[in-house]
Amino acid sequence: MAVKLSRWLKQRFPIEKTYQENLTHYYVPKNFNVWYLLGSLALFIFGLQIFTGIFLTMYYTPTAKEAFASIEFIMRDVNYGWLIRYLHSTGASFFFIVIYLHMFRSLLYGSHKRPRELVWLLGMLLYLVLLAEAFMGYLLPWGQMSYWGAQVITSLFSAIPGIGPKLTLWMRGDYTVADATLHRFFALHIIAMPLIMIFLVRLHIKALHYVGANNPTGIDLAMPMVNGKNNQIIPFHPYYTIKDLGGLAVFLLIFVVIVFFAPEFGGYFLEPTNFMPADPLQTPSHIAPIWYMTPFYAMLRAIPDKLLGVMIMAAAIAILFVVPWLDRSPVRSIRYRGWMSKVALFIFSLSFLGLGYLGLVDVTPLRTVFARIFTTGYFAFFLLMPFYTALEKTKLLPERL
Ligand code: HEM
Repeated sequence: MAVKLSRWLKQRFPIEKTYQENLTHYYVPKNFNVWYLLGSLALFIFGLQIFTGIFLTMYYTPTAKEAFASIEFIMRDVNYGWLIRYLHSTGASFFFIVIYLHMFRSLLYGSHKRPRELVWLLGMLLYLVLLAEAFMGYLLPWGQMSYWGAQVITSLFSAIPGIGPKLTLWMRGDYTVADATLHRFFALHIIAMPLIMIFLVRLHIKALHYVGANNPTGIDLAMPMVNGKNNQIIPFHPYYTIKDLGGLAVFLLIFVVIVFFAPEFGGYFLEPTNFMPADPLQTPSHIAPIWYMTPFYAMLRAIPDKLLGVMIMAAAIAILFVVPWLDRSPVRSIRYRGWMSKVALFIFSLSFLGLGYLGLVDVTPLRTVFARIFTTGYFAFFLLMPFYTALEKTKLLPERL
């Protein structure tokens, strides 16, 4: 019966071909390390967010009057509602942790360089959509931070000369963040953005499979076969499916410990102010976005002029798109780059983490100075990249893995 069914299916759908192309006959370098787990983890979390999101949508009400109470209802009355919600909220933070590490891996091993520029660009589009997805999702609980965070971020667009105020009004659908804003953010969060993400993920992986994966040495593996075999590459399945499953088990262990024992994560994953219902008449004393947006928020606050701040913040993301063309190193991996690239990557990482921290805490004059230093460090990494990557002496590449 099973054989018959599978034959029937095979004659009507290229199921075997798809399986082979993506798994058993998809060859990848044999030296993938733990950094290469992150793409699969991102896929897993994306699936988890969709799964938990479907169940949350069954009980959530997207109106200003009922949104907050419906979340409380999910947390207190719906069977395992608390678990579904915590999986979703912790999942959001973990999605960003994984994506930031995934992006860092690309910088570390030069995965953005030729011929994988498009893989990087599609990844950057995914990152932008992910930021929008998280921002809109954060409004849905309709807590104080949801409301005021959305108010601050949407008002940033009003700094754009000419069209700014009209654009903000159009985005909100009202003069302030209101019921109309909640409705449209809900629609975008549960339908539009996930659909765009599914499409982009498909393209991201298709583009990667077309050019082939990079590896920690960054060397090209399109080498002559030895005795008709290329012993530097192995099929993705079963080798990496097993390895990724092992990695997933370790990841899940850490993930569930946080979901069960520290889902708010000291106020970093779920901010305390958001446990108060939105009050349009009372601004909280301290408004800060959730941690994954704070590096950009710290840049915004470090610049006294609103328009300039918005431009710097937008530039900080935009500049990531052109990394493949800023990097002129003859080698890909950090292992064979010179000391200048290593120092630059260290300064960049320090600046990004420093800004992330500064965006979480209140402003003081000293912190503003640091925020400006880190913003300079962040941009210097990119703007000086064409020079230090071209000038520095690199190490000799090995001929094979
Ligand atoms: C929803 C978000 C994303 C998903 C699901 C995703 C998924 C994947 C997967 C499954 C791989 C192959 C496995 C691996 O190399 O880890 C991969 C590779 C890659 N991704 Fe992503 N990715 C996402 C976002 C991004 C972002 C934001 C960037 C960078 C801007 C990016 C850049 C890359 C690059 C350059 C590679 C090739 C790496 C190499 O061969 O060394 N990805 N991605």
